[in-house]
Amino acid sequence: MDNAASLEFESTLVSRAEETEALLARLLDGTPRSGETARPARLLAAIRHGVLNGGKRLRPFLVMESAALFGADGEAASRVAAALECVHCYSLIHDDLPAMDDDDLRRGQPTVHRAFDEASAILAGDALLTYAFDIIADGATELAPLARAELVLGLARAAGMGGMVGGQALDLEAERQKPDEAGIVTLQAMKTGALIRFACEAGAIIGGASPEERERLSEFGSAIGLAFQLADDLLDMTSSAEALGKATGKDAAAGKATLVSLHGVDWTRSQLSGLVAQASELLEPFGDKATLLRQAARFVAERSS
Ligand code: IPE
Ligand code: IPE
Ligand code: MG
Ligand code: MG
Ligand code: MG
Repeated sequence: MDNAASLEFESTLVSRAEETEALLARLLDGTPRSGETARPARLLAAIRHGVLNGGKRLRPFLVMESAALFGADGEAASRVAAALECVHCYSLIHDDLPAMDDDDLRRGQPTVHRAFDEASAILAGDALLTYAFDIIADGATELAPLARAELVLGLARAAGMGGMVGGQALDLEAERQKPDEAGIVTLQAMKTGALIRFACEAGAIIGGASPEERERLSEFGSAIGLAFQLADDLLDMTSSAEALGKATGKDAAAGKATLVSLHGVDWTRSQLSGLVAQASELLEPFGDKATLLRQAARFVAERSS
């Protein structure tokens, strides 16, 4: 990526992240909404600890930039983006639990179960998953009825047993029984790919894209989703806790089969450039309008945190 393009991408990622952070802070305030009785202080503190802690906000960025491709990056896109980030943060809070990856550090801070306790971390995750659907269903998120229903369905499928949660189950099984290459690709497409794919597809839904355009965005999301987990596994092997804000060397220690452990670092890097090229090609019909999304693909593959 040349320097000017990379600077433009990075500053947009930062400003979108700030926008998401501010919206999440408002959505996760202490005021009970209509139909709620109270938001218990300790639970809310655990939720806020797990959400308002400086993630890259890549998935929200992808929702907003995909929507922007169709001229629809307004308030509705930001709210759907925040909803998806709630699901992502829930997945991280639960991923870090002792019964799962047993991690103490996330985004440079103690994980939710370390800062609070395990029950609070479980409940914080539960609340965030539910809240994501609350945000999308809320009339304040201005969407056409069909788009709203498609977003609810898409997010449910991406997050649930045939998506992220299913992928997490396969990922834990993989510590005991090593999957083959196709098995690893499937589990990664589920545990990480599904939410990233949905992020891109959600933008197309919000923007009223044609079925072909929506499919294109979805395939773009799949390609960068795979690249994202490849890069995550690479960083687990090659980076440091200081750079990442989370522990490294965890996959090898758990005996986890990843494509990096199977094929090595050089193969992974060339695979990553192939995925970036594939992702960029998918955006060809959108021309210059898709420049930021093309840069996002590079960022995902080349990121250092
Ligand atoms: C980490 O996701 C978990 C994976 C799916 C590999 P991110 O790297 O997007 O984490 P944050 O949100 O920036 O902390
Ligand atoms: C986590 O994958 C994927 C989800 C949270 C769904 P990892 O376990 O590799 O993520 P990190 O490395 O802890 O962020
Ligand atoms: Mg994990
Ligand atoms: Mg983990
Ligand atoms: Mg990892």
